[in-house]
Amino acid sequence: MTSKKKPRVYITRKLPDLVETRMRELFDAELNIDDVPRSREALLEAVQHADVLVPTVTDRIDQTLIEQAGPQLKLIASFSNGVDNIDIDAAARRGITVTNTPNVLTEDTADMAMALILAVPRRLAEGATILTDRRHEWAGWSPTWMLGRRLGGKRLGIVGMGRIGTAVARRAKAFGLSIHYHNRKRVSRETEEQLEATYWDSLDQMLARVDIVSVNCPSTPATYHLLSARRLQLMRPTSILVNTARGGIIDETALIKCIREGRIAGAGLDVFENEPVVNPKLVKLAAEGKVVLLPHMSSATIEGRVDMGDKVIINIRTFFDGHRPPDRVLPGRN
Ligand code: DGY
Repeated sequence: MTSKKKPRVYITRKLPDLVETRMRELFDAELNIDDVPRSREALLEAVQHADVLVPTVTDRIDQTLIEQAGPQLKLIASFSNGVDNIDIDAAARRGITVTNTPNVLTEDTADMAMALILAVPRRLAEGATILTDRRHEWAGWSPTWMLGRRLGGKRLGIVGMGRIGTAVARRAKAFGLSIHYHNRKRVSRETEEQLEATYWDSLDQMLARVDIVSVNCPSTPATYHLLSARRLQLMRPTSILVNTARGGIIDETALIKCIREGRIAGAGLDVFENEPVVNPKLVKLAAEGKVVLLPHMSSATIEGRVDMGDKVIINIRTFFDGHRPPDRVLPGRN
C-alpha cells in the first residue's frame, strides 16, 4: 500500500491517541481533535470527498446521505459494533462496503450488563449516593436499612444469545443465577450444557417466568420495541430489566409506566431511545432509586477502544489491498 496514494479517511469523532497516530501514518486522515459531533452538512461534505468514512454510533448515515456520496467513497468503516445507524442496503446499492468492529466489545459490554444486574437489586447507586450527597446524613448500620434483593438462585432471561448474551450468561452463572434465553435460533447443545441454559422459543413465556431480563440483541427493524407495552406487562412485579444493547428495543414510555405502576420493580439502562436525550421521567425514577442509568458506557474501556481502532485500520487496509475486509457487514441485516 506504501507506493500507492494514501486513501482519504474521514473520522467523525476523536479516537484514542494511539489509534489516531497510526491512522495518520497509514492514511490521509482527517481527524476530529475537538470531538464536536459532526453536523449533517459536514458529513455531506465528507462523503463527497473522502474515500473512507469512519463514523461512530452518534452519526446517522442514512439513505439520503449515502445517495449524495461521491463516486470516490468506497468504504464506510464504522468505529462501532452496532450498525443500526447506517443504512447498509443503501450503501450496497451504491457499491459502498460497510464494516464494523465486532468481538472486541463483548467482554466489556457483558461486564457492564452484569454490573447493572447487580446494581439494581442491591441498590448500589442509591447506597453510593448516600455517602456523597450532602442532603443525607448516614446514621450507621441498621438491620432493616438499604435492603435489596439477593441475586443467587434467581432466574435470568437473556433476550439475544449472541456473543454478548453468552458472555453475560457465563458471568451470571458464576453469581448463582440460572440461565434462560430467547434467541432466533438455539445455541449449540455444548453451550447450553455448559451454561445449563434453558431455551425459550416463546419470548412471552420467558418474560413471565424470569426475575431479571437482560437485553442483548442487535437493534434491527425486527427488534424495534421488541419489549413492547404488552410484553413488559408480562413481567413479574418483582422483576427487573437491564438493557446494554440499544434503547429502541424497549418501549421506554411503557417501561416508565410499568415501573411507576409497580408492574416491574426496576431497571438498569445504559442505552436510551433518544440519545443523548434521556427522558426526564427516567431521571426522576433514578432519583427515587428505582432505576440505575448509565450514559451509554458499557463498551467504554481504553483497551476496547484501541482494539476497535485496530479493527477499523485492518478493515481499511485489507479493503485497499484489494481483499474482502474481515468485518464486512452484509446487506439485508438491518
Ligand atoms: C457499539 O459500538 O455499537 C457500542 O454500542 C458502543 O458502545
